[in-house]
Amino acid sequence: MSGIKPLKGIKVIDFTHVQAGPACTQLMAWFGADVIKVERPGSGDVTRTQLRDIPEADALYFTMLNSNKRSLTLDTKTQQGKEVLEKLIKESDVLVENFAPGALDRMGFTWERIQELNPKMIVASVKGFSDGHHYEDLKVYENVAQCAGGAASTTGWWDGPPTVSGAALGDSNTGMHLAIGILTAIIGRQQTGKGQRVSCSMQDAVLNLCRVKLRDQQRLDRLGFLEEYPQYPHGKFSDVVPRGGNAGGGGQPGWVLKCKGWETDPNAYIYFTIQGHAWEPICRALGKPEWIEDPAYNTPRARQDKIFDIFAFIENWLSEKTKYEAVDILRKFDIPCSPVLSMKEIAADPSLRASGSIVEVDHKVYGKYLTVGSPIKFSDLKPEITAAPLLGEHTDQVLAELGYSQDQIKSMHEGKVV
Ligand code: COA
Repeated sequence: MSGIKPLKGIKVIDFTHVQAGPACTQLMAWFGADVIKVERPGSGDVTRTQLRDIPEADALYFTMLNSNKRSLTLDTKTQQGKEVLEKLIKESDVLVENFAPGALDRMGFTWERIQELNPKMIVASVKGFSDGHHYEDLKVYENVAQCAGGAASTTGWWDGPPTVSGAALGDSNTGMHLAIGILTAIIGRQQTGKGQRVSCSMQDAVLNLCRVKLRDQQRLDRLGFLEEYPQYPHGKFSDVVPRGGNAGGGGQPGWVLKCKGWETDPNAYIYFTIQGHAWEPICRALGKPEWIEDPAYNTPRARQDKIFDIFAFIENWLSEKTKYEAVDILRKFDIPCSPVLSMKEIAADPSLRASGSIVEVDHKVYGKYLTVGSPIKFSDLKPEITAAPLLGEHTDQVLAELGYSQDQIKSMHEGKVV
């Protein structure tokens, strides 16, 4: 590896908090950008103190979303704080924020003002809803976005309430979308010499992942039924896409099935997919070769009316196998499947450690903790994940880089500007 970090030289003012924005800027920091997290003096990002498990140390919620960054404390509502921010804007490439709608404008940093200060600046925002949306004024957190983006209404059991996912579809997912937008704007700037505004709403980012459900709504409108849902053919459809339990959204019949030990282990399950083209190996793996040619079984449509009988048969086959044993057998037949892994299993997984997807980091106050490393792998870059900064750890350093003298820095500390 060359050791070259592709985003080296890109300076990012990280005006983000909680999860959506920090996930975006953390990704940029991993890939080499100089990310300066601007935080309110005294308190900083609210996640520093949220759900702490060591009383005096920054919470894992903060440290797992802010690695590889520098922290500058700055009260941007004071005159002097605004001056510091102006200087920073003049020499940065990107400003990322996820404040409530209008907060940056109220602070005096409208898009027009930022452009005056630095026409090359890219200003990237996460908001709950997009500009002009009838809910654009709303403050939004994760589950609000999952409900607004179509995920909740299509997740869960058909006879239960809408259900939100444990995955951060509204938060980290929006941050990832925004990162793509920022990198696109950086490339665009190479052609035009100008910055631009980039924004991604949490509703839109969730919706982007719910594409197949919008597909299903249109099919349902036309046909009145959805042949790959568990409701077909025995149940009833209304005029909205129903919740499909553990059925595969892409249209491949699949289900979470019990394995040996499920009575006591809440994760003794595998996900088993009955992919159309894998039917023959599935039958061979299950010891049911007679199903291969049987017209009652040999097409997805023929199987659908007895899909739960087939799953019950597979569960019976699984009853004496652990989830790992089952997957080891099924993988030999090229059957798409996975053990349902608990977070404890994931944390200890040697493959995830080896690939850098789970990383152990050493923090000055907290000590060692695990975090999720880059899910994106490169042939010529191995992001090195470092600990999240303490509140204001780099304040003096950043101010000195901006040309402030030690006396000026001291007076800013005394005036609680930083
Ligand atoms: N110095 C001075 N003031 C600062 C500051 C600093 N360094 N950093 C933030 N502030 C101020 C803001 O200017 C704002 O002031 P104002 O309300 O007087 O204009 C204030 O702090 C609070 O910001 P706000 O974003 O409203 O925080 P909140 O805790 O009330 O709301 C959210 C939190 C997440 C709900 C809201 O920020 C939001 O909806 N963001 C957009 C969507 C989003 O990202 N959601 C979270 C996903 S994890």
